Formats: sequence, structure tokens, C-alpha cells
Amino acid sequence: MSAELQQVTYEPFEQPCLSLQGKKALVTGGSRGIGKAIALTLAAQGADVALTYYTGCKFAEDVCAQIRDMGRLSGCYAHDIGDRETVHELRPHVMEDLGQVDILINNAGIARDRSFKKMSIEMWDDVLAVNLTGVFHMAKQFVDDMADRGWGRIVNISSVVGEVGNFGQANYAAAKAGVLGLTKTLAREYARKGVTVNAIAPGFIKTRMMQGIPDSALQAVINQTPMGRLGDPSEIAAGVAFLSSPAAGFITGHVLDINGGIKM
Ligand SMILES: NC(=O)c1ccc[n+]([C@@H]2O[C@H](COP(=O)([O-])OP(=O)(O)OC[C@H]3O[C@@H](n4cnc5c(N)ncnc54)[C@H](OP(=O)(O)O)[C@@H]3O)[C@@H](O)[C@H]2O)c1
Repeated sequence: MSAELQQVTYEPFEQPCLSLQGKKALVTGGSRGIGKAIALTLAAQGADVALTYYTGCKFAEDVCAQIRDMGRLSGCYAHDIGDRETVHELRPHVMEDLGQVDILINNAGIARDRSFKKMSIEMWDDVLAVNLTGVFHMAKQFVDDMADRGWGRIVNISSVVGEVGNFGQANYAAAKAGVLGLTKTLAREYARKGVTVNAIAPGFIKTRMMQGIPDSALQAVINQTPMGRLGDPSEIAAGVAFLSSPAAGFITGHVLDINGGIKM
């Protein structure tokens, strides 16, 4: 019997730890929608939470205030995650406020939808820069510190569209599929360093991102969803909180589908 198996004991049972007490989290795009729900949920679980935004300063400050009201540290920073010249300016500000980042949630994202025939290279570049290269830049800034400390969590917000494609979303689907490949590769590279890297693939969730979709298309999505409804941002945040917790320490390279059954 291997030495590791000889250590198997059945008593005492170790309770899984779902608390984020004492952890420091950074959520990109935490000003609204799914990111806001994630930031508030991580804070409710005990984490200090910093967040980034692009234009939604008022919304971000409101989320920060709610986090501080829970007795946690918070800060918010304007940045363009798609701008490779300035994205690195974020790190010193976050370090000043939080000291370190234990949990990185790559949530910021945009959509620029058009059929492939009408999609311009600019629409392609914009979406790839924010939704995929942005994740690369954020991981670059924080993952090695996590590895040096021997503990870290990265959760990347992908999409069901990255798994199955979607009409009018060649750029978005490619970026979100790329996020899955990046997630699994980082998971392998950091698996022995105490850092887990996972992705969540939401289905269709009630946020600003869905507002431009015509009612008929939205109804078609709802009809195709076995649960017959859109998701709520809090339902994505619940998955993020779990994957960020000490309890999820043996899960890495996983893609968690939270989609009402639209893809099984
Ligand atoms: N809603 C859905 O059905 C759905 C489904 C699957 C996956 N997702 C993914 O979930 C994530 C959140 O989407 P959401 O639905 O919550 O969208 P949302 O309400 O539009 O929020 C997007 C967030 O990203 C930020 N952001 C946008 N461009 C940015 C940039 N260049 N640099 C930094 N931050 C930027 C926004 O900041 P501002 O407030 O400053 O604009 C906002 O905080 C995205 O990655 C999206 O692709 C959404």
C-alpha cells in the first residue's frame, strides 16, 4: 500500500471550509451584473474585495460602499482591461489597498455581436482583447504571487457560447472558448503550487449584456432552456464562491456549467 493511502483515516471527519474569512479577492468588472453579484457574495463569505470597472464609476463605488458596510476592506479602480499599454497600472493600486490578492475573478467582458459576414476585424479585436487577452494580463499580474504563497484561486467567467457557439457571436464564442483553454493550461501549470484555476460557463443571465437582444430571440433562449427562465447573477456568484473557497481545493481545470440545463 502506498504511503499516501496508509494515511487514510475516517476519524475525525474534517468539515469542508466554505468561509472566505481573511482572504483578499479582486473581481474585474465588479461594477454591475454578474461581477457585482460576485463581489458582494465573496464579501458576504468574509473576503475583502476590490473591484475594477471601465466606465461605471458610480456603480462601482456603490458596490464598494456595500462591501465596506459588511465590515470588509474594498476599493475600486477604473481600467480598460483590453488596453495592453495601461492594464499593468492596476496592480500597484490593488496591492496598496489589499496587500495581496488570494482570489482573482476574471469576469469583465463585452459583446459586439454581428453575423460573421458583417463582423469587422475591429469587432473581433475588441472582444478578443477584453474577453481573452484581458484574462491573460490579469493572471500575469497576480498568479505568481499566489504560487509563491502556496495558495490561490482563479475563477474565469467563460460562457456556454464558448462551449457550443452561437449565431452572431463568432468573436465572443472564440474568446470564451479561448478562456477555457487558458483556464485548463494554467490549472496544469499551477496545480502543484496551491493555486486552482477553474472556469464557470454561464447560460443566459439577466444583466445589461442581455438588454440588446430582441424579445423574440430572448424568448427563443428561454424556450430552449429546460428550466424555462433566464439565470440570476447570484446563481453565478454562488458557483464562484464555492470554487474560491478552501473546500474546493481539489478542483482545478474544471468548467462549471450554470445554465438552467441549456447544455448538459
Ligand atoms: N449575461 C449573460 O447572459 C452572460 C452569459 C455568459 C457569460 N457572461 C459573462 O459574464 C461576464 C459579466 O457579464 P455581465 O452579463 O455581468 O455584463 P455587464 O452587466 O455588461 O457587466 C460587464 C462588466 O465588465 C466591465 N467591463 C466592460 N468592459 C471593460 C473593459 N474594457 N475593462 C474593464 N472592465 C470592463 C463593465 O464595467 P462598466 O460597468 O464600467 O461598464 C462591467 O462591470 C462577462 O465576461 C460575460 O461575457 C454573461
